[in-house]
Amino acid sequence: MDNNISVVVNEEKKKGNLEQIVALDENVYMPVFGKRVPLVVDHGKGVYLYGTDGKKYMDMIGGIAVNTLGHSNGKLCKAISSQAKKVIHCCNYYYNEPQTMLAKKLVERSFADKVFFANSGAEANEGAIKLARGYWYKKGTPKPKIITATMSFHGRTMATIAATGQEKFREPFGPVTPGFDYEPYNDINALKNAIDAQTGAIMLELIQGESGVHPADFEYIQNVRKLCTENKILMIIDEVQTGVGRTGTFFAYEQYGIQPDIVTLAKGLSGGVPVGAVLATNIVATGFGPGDHGSTFGGNPLACAAGLAVLEEIESKNLLTNATNISAFLFKKLSAVAKKTKKIADVRGKGLLIGIELDCGSASETKMKLFEKGYLVSAIGSNVIRIAPPLILTKLQAMKFVSALQDVLEGKE
Ligand SMILES: Cc1ncc(COP(=O)(O)O)c(C=O)c1O
Repeated sequence: MDNNISVVVNEEKKKGNLEQIVALDENVYMPVFGKRVPLVVDHGKGVYLYGTDGKKYMDMIGGIAVNTLGHSNGKLCKAISSQAKKVIHCCNYYYNEPQTMLAKKLVERSFADKVFFANSGAEANEGAIKLARGYWYKKGTPKPKIITATMSFHGRTMATIAATGQEKFREPFGPVTPGFDYEPYNDINALKNAIDAQTGAIMLELIQGESGVHPADFEYIQNVRKLCTENKILMIIDEVQTGVGRTGTFFAYEQYGIQPDIVTLAKGLSGGVPVGAVLATNIVATGFGPGDHGSTFGGNPLACAAGLAVLEEIESKNLLTNATNISAFLFKKLSAVAKKTKKIADVRGKGLLIGIELDCGSASETKMKLFEKGYLVSAIGSNVIRIAPPLILTKLQAMKFVSALQDVLEGKE
């Protein structure tokens, strides 16, 4: 085949691949994602994803705060492949070293004494909810009520939709798990009024990521801690999205000067290999005894070896400092774009979890225009662009994204 013809054939093949996959997906995949962005991901490297059409995209959403180290990180790939060659999975009838070592590292880095591994954020939160209820039950004073915040998001399983303070996630799937109450975020008086003898835990995100990147006020969280201590209530912090360096510290709670009783992690912990974790103090961990909880896959050697590699890379590459510095740079540059274009109403968040609230135009339209320019972001609700890029993002890459956003907002091609 001559060269020109082979180029044309390849282009057609690539185009065909997108069309074929989209058509096939419509037939065989449940329609829970609606219409997806027209990109069939082929591979990734660093902060970039490449489509089967050969196009390169800066991944400013990082698998929704999952790809802590970016794509195809050498250390992470090596850890996964060497672990896979040794043993991918063995059930929890036996010990496995990566599981114990990852638990040890998380304990060393946190308020916690004990860890349980699951496979996702929702599963970690299920574990936290069960642990809190089990704790009070075993003390002989069952207190099943858990207060969460309105507009929170804690997952999509039956207990976590019940914990999620947004009716739209619960309504079609009732009856939902009872025992949850929702109070306005950042409103300490509402919490005070909602507490009763049945209240065993208060469960909060420190940044409400899924509902538009809304950070909790420092004072509010300090007061929640006090309220919990005074009323013998467990404080559960859902760090599924904010954990593992996302906000510039390993845990976001470190920035609030508090010690929670239970913390959940997932997304970024193993850099893309499914994982979840429940962290608790020794006292609270008494809520689980033998047979009370478990998971076939949870804490398997592969996921935990990946987690260990992520933690080592965060340390050796100073990624917490990088996240903090790039965050400050992004906030400065995005504020300048807001001033110049008058099309951004607010820029908020912490570290590399940032919400850009648009003043005009729809977030999904802006997302698609950025996609056409080679940038991947998420649109939340009607007017917020969320970014959660890998913690390895450089200033130059951050600047390129800001310029692309400015061009889109100014209507430049
Ligand atoms: C704060 C929070 N909790 C829980 C979850 C659910 O995690 P997963 O999708 O891994 O079940 C999410 C997902 O976006 C989240 O942001």
